[in-house]
Amino acid sequence: MSQPYLSDPATRPARIRIGHLAEAKRRGEKFSMLTCYDTMLAEIFDQAGIETLLVGDSAANTVMGYNSTLRITLDEMIVLAKAVVNGTQRALVVVDLPFGSYEQSPAQAVASSVRLMKEAGVHAVKVEGDSRYAPHVDAMVAAGVPVIAHIGFTPQSEHALGGYKVQGRGEAAQKLITDAVALQDAGAFAVLMEMVPSPVAAEVDAALRVPTIGIGAGASTTGQVLVWQDMLGLGSARTPRFVKKYANLREVISGAVTAYHQDVSSGQFPSAEYEFDK
Ligand code: KIV
Repeated sequence: MSQPYLSDPATRPARIRIGHLAEAKRRGEKFSMLTCYDTMLAEIFDQAGIETLLVGDSAANTVMGYNSTLRITLDEMIVLAKAVVNGTQRALVVVDLPFGSYEQSPAQAVASSVRLMKEAGVHAVKVEGDSRYAPHVDAMVAAGVPVIAHIGFTPQSEHALGGYKVQGRGEAAQKLITDAVALQDAGAFAVLMEMVPSPVAAEVDAALRVPTIGIGAGASTTGQVLVWQDMLGLGSARTPRFVKKYANLREVISGAVTAYHQDVSSGQFPSAEYEFDK
């Protein structure tokens, strides 16, 4: 079997652009996205070959300690996005438009996106919402902003949706397809689906020419995304069902920090090898 287009040394793009993700879908190949909120991890994820980094508004929970994504501001997102862009050579860096920064009008969505691209240097933005946000996507794309549309479970609407719930079951499946097509037709270069039954996500993917990205949406999407603290086991909260845990960093870090604390308490650190001579 030949190597995938995005990782084969002969075809591997030096810098991932939105056209490369479209090409992956045309070829029936996959790409990865991980959330990222700082420079050092951006460098590690980028060098590991992750094609797209998402400065998600999940930073509200994972970085800021807020109890909801609703609370993070555009200014806070800009700081985090700058750090990720600074650590990245190859990956496409996408940032979330946070709650309150785009809903009022297409003009507000353009103004917020322009700030993220100009001040943080990101390559694309992601916006939550159904087909009612097609005019916003259209205006952003017209202004030169590449957009990912996020449908299905949209955390910024957690109160309106009545909590963290799978979306698109039963009759709601058709609306999800209609929304996805409307957002694609407005110019979104990809559609991200969160917590959607796998067969419905497969139908959405089949209805679109642009790539889909899934989180809790099964294996048919072109891309997959996970929150890095979930997949590397850093958090203390219960791991969502759709997350595969690739490491247990909480245990590793906690063990190392406890050892450091014991060394300091017992006077074993710093020993001579960590001291300067006269
Ligand atoms: O903010 C985020 O991390 C996201 C992912 C869950 C897709 O939107």
